[in-house]
Amino acid sequence: MKQTLKNMYIKDKRVLLRLDLNVPIINGNVIDDTKIVKSLETINFLLKENCKIIIMSHLGRVKTEEDKAKNTLEPVKAILEKYLNKEIKFAKDILSEETKNMALNLKSGEILLLENTRFLDVPEKLESTLNDNVAKSLASLGEIFVLDAFASSHRSHTSVVGIPKYLPNCIGLLMEQELDMLNRTILNPEHPFTVIMGGAKVDDKIPLIKSLLPKCDHLLVSGGIANSFLYALGLNVGASLKATDENIIAELKNIMLEYKPKFAFPLDAIVESTYNKTPALKSINKIDSNDIIKDIGSKTIQKYQDIINSSNTIFINGTMGVYEEKAYRNGTTEIFNILKNKEESTVIGGGDTISALNNLGFKNTFTNISSGGGATLEYIAKNTLPGIEAISEEDKIETLDL
Ligand code: 3PG
Repeated sequence: MKQTLKNMYIKDKRVLLRLDLNVPIINGNVIDDTKIVKSLETINFLLKENCKIIIMSHLGRVKTEEDKAKNTLEPVKAILEKYLNKEIKFAKDILSEETKNMALNLKSGEILLLENTRFLDVPEKLESTLNDNVAKSLASLGEIFVLDAFASSHRSHTSVVGIPKYLPNCIGLLMEQELDMLNRTILNPEHPFTVIMGGAKVDDKIPLIKSLLPKCDHLLVSGGIANSFLYALGLNVGASLKATDENIIAELKNIMLEYKPKFAFPLDAIVESTYNKTPALKSINKIDSNDIIKDIGSKTIQKYQDIINSSNTIFINGTMGVYEEKAYRNGTTEIFNILKNKEESTVIGGGDTISALNNLGFKNTFTNISSGGGATLEYIAKNTLPGIEAISEEDKIETLDL
């Protein structure tokens, strides 16, 4: 058992709190604040203990200087201020002397939010390559490190895994709740166990798919992941998103050789053509070179429904199509409707999937919700995560018979 926040002496301490505030932002507006809301419990707990709080999080993918402008945490700061009803200080340059002074001069009950930790990756990869000097320097801002970013705990990044080496540490309240829920529901799942995976890119999910397949009975796929497997099977998926790299295709073929009976692929799709924007329903073996697959069709929904209904545990990460566009949201909506009837056996994971739930009218319909997408998939596959490994074990207070 990992050290928990409630077991730590934190009164008046300077607490370095790693959250996952990676929320969807369009034109500077946060369009789904679920992750922020879920983080409030730990922040309020620390405030009650008169802590000085330094919050860190990543946001989006930051590879170039240009990526920085659209991935600032300033819109998140505004939402946090609204919910907490207090002003929050903001440090733009994470490693500067000025930031250090701001952190060291915080008064009890004050909060400092550091700019996106992934800004440290440009020009040098100081966040994603687990840089020890940066970990030490970040650790010097606090007296205690609290990891409450379950959704980022599969990343061996400096702000997740590096800092706890240098500070007394524990998991936060959200992380504790998420681990309890996942351990209860899907760590030792009741079979048949079905995993539903949507998403654009298959490339970075291959190791995960390989470790999940021995554990689950069915893997239902959609989106770019499904397209890539179908393409590897020799089907024409037209102009749809797919992997084309020869090595990846070879790898997908090998995976199917071993596990084909566990896979469920779409039978039909709603497509848009590169020259005609009108949605059309097509069999999966009748896709033209100009077609772009944007949702699953009715035969696929029926097939997936049969599998879901015969399952005793279901985990879903990802959507069935481009649900943000009205014409392509039916597949995702219907799958959520089917899962609604299996609410107790279903676990929903990942920021994008939670946004889809909320946007399609399923807010508060499901109880087993995990903020982690990739993190939860990896947790199911490996039963642990680098972030969890980095946190100290609970101090056992022995009861002596005196
Ligand atoms: C997520 O949304 O799954 C987490 O915040 C991790 O984000 P990442 O995939 O960009 O590391």
